[in-house]
Amino acid sequence: MGPFFQVEKHMKKTKILGTGIYLPKKILHNRDLEKIVETNDEWIFERTGIRERRISSTEGGEWPTDMAYHATQDALKTAGLSANDIDLIIFASVTPDMKLPNSSTLLQTKLGISNRCACLDIAVACSGFVYGLNMANSMIQTGMFKNALIVGSEMLSREVNWKDRSSCILFGDGCGVAILGETPEGDSSEIHATHLGGDGSGKEFFHQQVGGAVTPITPAHLEEESHYMVMKGREMFKVATRTLAENAKIVCEKSEIELDEVDWLVPHQANIRIIETTGKLLGFPPEKVIVNIHKYGNTSAATIPIAFHEAISEGKIKRGDKVLLDAFGAGLTFGSTLLTY
Ligand code: ACO
Repeated sequence: MGPFFQVEKHMKKTKILGTGIYLPKKILHNRDLEKIVETNDEWIFERTGIRERRISSTEGGEWPTDMAYHATQDALKTAGLSANDIDLIIFASVTPDMKLPNSSTLLQTKLGISNRCACLDIAVACSGFVYGLNMANSMIQTGMFKNALIVGSEMLSREVNWKDRSSCILFGDGCGVAILGETPEGDSSEIHATHLGGDGSGKEFFHQQVGGAVTPITPAHLEEESHYMVMKGREMFKVATRTLAENAKIVCEKSEIELDEVDWLVPHQANIRIIETTGKLLGFPPEKVIVNIHKYGNTSAATIPIAFHEAISEGKIKRGDKVLLDAFGAGLTFGSTLLTY
């Protein structure tokens, strides 16, 4: 037996101890968008599956870290933990409250955590939650941390061009969180396998160049409105379907679990047609695919934890179920995980 056997033998297993979500109060229906850009409810629903999305208040109280604060209260309750039991926060977002300090330290303060826990932000677009979950998993497995709070929280309404009908119809705001800890003795919960990756050649498909160190934002950018996110929808669509299906198969192979043993697929919610095509490519039953895109649109790093939490609350995903989380995002980045909840 080589060293790998020994490492695996002593590896701790991890369990999602609790989850929570927060959705902004304001609902923006497709019919409201008809008043802003040249579009209509039928076109948006047919091409994307979206009917409405949530929009965070710009008056305060619903910034990404506020949403994370509220979502974490539910997760702590389910986990039976108090805020000071958290020793690692991983905050996934491409729309953080501010550039400095990072969102996880802001959240630490809001949660009243006084234990000086580790605070890490990651910007992996829509794959952020799956990346964060697996980073936390590895860090708990090595014994470095005990209870990790993983957050996907986005306020994309601030970064989309509300004059661009091909992108503004897609996105929304929201937050989902999970607390990951060690699996108790005799419990079946664990993360079986993960496949994380990236492909920088897809940069042009989805980017926001203005506002970074290379191109700091100037009044001219504001004037010409070139500081918003720019997306090539068709290209993203093609890559997404291929990637999601391929990666779902990879994590099944790595786990030595057959796809038909998987109880639930929780895909990134970017477009209902991407979700359906992925399901078809995999031959996966549609009734076992979690979909909530009609209510929230694409909330980037938040789609998977929101969909996961809702499916638990609705009694679909139960303890002991095998769940496949499948994400892709700008970058390109991608991340898939197969776990027993
Ligand atoms: N309302 C009405 N018509 C529209 C709208 C709209 N909101 N938007 C575009 N159109 C028009 C176009 O102008 C075009 O008209 P034309 O044929 O006269 O030129 C026609 O509809 C078709 O446009 P397409 O772009 O080809 O439409 P498509 O069917 O590809 O749908 C969409 C566009 C919805 C953006 C789709 O490509 C998509 O969802 N792509 C994936 C996007 C994605 O996954 N993004 C996020 C990934 S990363 C992350 O999540 C952070």
